[in-house]
Amino acid sequence: MPKLLFIPGSLRAASSSRATAEALMRRLEEVAACDLADPGRLPHYNADVTDDAAVAAFVAAIDQADGLVFVTPEYNYSIPGLLKNAIDWASRPAYASVFVGKPCAIVSTSGGALGGVRAQAHLKYVLSGMLAAVHPCRELVITHANARLSDGTLDSDETLGMAEDTLRAFTAALSRAA
Ligand SMILES: Cc1cc2nc3c(=O)[nH]c(=O)nc-3n(C[C@H](O)[C@H](O)[C@H](O)COP(=O)(O)O)c2cc1C
Repeated sequence: MPKLLFIPGSLRAASSSRATAEALMRRLEEVAACDLADPGRLPHYNADVTDDAAVAAFVAAIDQADGLVFVTPEYNYSIPGLLKNAIDWASRPAYASVFVGKPCAIVSTSGGALGGVRAQAHLKYVLSGMLAAVHPCRELVITHANARLSDGTLDSDETLGMAEDTLRAFTAALSRAA
């Protein structure tokens, strides 16, 4: 089974993007081995730091994953600093990092009606700067995400169906490439 590393962009206990990631992981469990990264464990990026254990574990998890799934909210029309910080750590050496050629899929969430679609455009741009392979598909957005949470979970075909179908296609492409 392909290994998928989900990378959430929010630390909140009641995060709708982490709830989205967890629901998608459950839905994909018979086709992929899914893990959830914890970017909150990473320090602020500092090029002088070369021996941080959390950073080393995060970079190794990306390296070992067959594909990455970013599930992120939009902060001020872009990706949260938390996510950018995590990406920056794994982006070195430039153009020769664990991101080169790494298949990536993007899901965004928002409390509002646009579902974080502007953050997706920024994330695609950032990933292109690291020569990652962003899965070609329509934008996967979860609109009004907070209102869709019930007891901390978010799980309906109406909300997640398109993301699930697309991630199944993403996973199948990883299997074919292996
Ligand atoms: C600092 C900050 C900036 C935000 N900026 C946007 C924004 O630009 N667009 C948007 O749709 N929602 C924005 N929101 C609202 C988020 O979509 C909402 O808080 C969402 O639930 C955050 O994701 P989470 O539930 O995973 O923590 C912002 C929220 C915060 C805290």
